[in-house]
Amino acid sequence: MTKVLIATEKPFAPAAVNGIREVVEGAGYELALLESYTDKADLLAAVADVDAMIIRSDKATREVIEAAKNLKVIVRAGAGYDNIDLEACTEKGIVAMNTPGQNSNAVAELVLGMMVFLARNGYNGKAGVELRGKKIGIHAYGNVGRYVGEIAKGFGMEVLAFDPFVAKEAIEADGVKVVESVEELYSTCNYISLHIPANDKTKKSINYDLLNKMPEGGILVNTARKEVIDEEGLMKLMEDRKDFAYISDIAPDCKDEIAAKFEGRFFFTPKKMGAQTAEANINAGIAGANQIVNCIEKGDTTYKVN
Ligand code: 3PG
Repeated sequence: MTKVLIATEKPFAPAAVNGIREVVEGAGYELALLESYTDKADLLAAVADVDAMIIRSDKATREVIEAAKNLKVIVRAGAGYDNIDLEACTEKGIVAMNTPGQNSNAVAELVLGMMVFLARNGYNGKAGVELRGKKIGIHAYGNVGRYVGEIAKGFGMEVLAFDPFVAKEAIEADGVKVVESVEELYSTCNYISLHIPANDKTKKSINYDLLNKMPEGGILVNTARKEVIDEEGLMKLMEDRKDFAYISDIAPDCKDEIAAKFEGRFFFTPKKMGAQTAEANINAGIAGANQIVNCIEKGDTTYKVN
């Protein structure tokens, strides 16, 4: 019998697991569940006899892919697939997919939520500032970026974007101003919201020089990946610019140093939770289950990323 594994170090909401089960068992397959594991050995054991698997930020390294002798399809229930060794998948003829757009609104809501939290000093009773009238720059206008723009407009913010991979007309059709360069985005906006993937080109690309272009009181919001930040440059900038703040859903490696030195100018969630809503779990999880069934039954490889 075809066996599908859900391997989630950070579990889905129960309703999402039930929805996935319905799809998987409805296709006549068996569902296995490995949740909240802390030991890589548990993952290696769980993948040994599965035909397909659904993961989140779980690390599908070469070791994991090679241990999964029967694996045919792996779906990352979410957007970023930097946690999957795509080369290892391709070598073994395994289809790797993501579920673009399915958890994007949840991430976008967290962006604005964290911005309000910082603007109101963590709700400590002191006078804060408002978002209305401020400029937000969306660095990469994909599914999350588009939702961020939509919500930010509701707050009365001016929305700008830079994304060389999306047609200018498509962005402008959303009422968002397109700027010509990444430097222009950073030098114009009070807030920058990052939505770039982590890859060889983007890693450490958000550096001192770029961030230093931000106007007085600039705030960087990162719900993308910590790897895109040049942390040394970030630390130096926070030293040099007492006006600059950093909010992130993925705490940097230097989080303790930031916490010790820059009180009131940072906020980090204790665990990446942008996509951690029941709705996002249901959307991404069930989409992943359907993609697995369609791939195995009909050879449908829509959303293949390798
Ligand atoms: C994504 O790439 O979809 C987000 O980073 C969500 O990751 P998560 O499923 O681990 O919360």
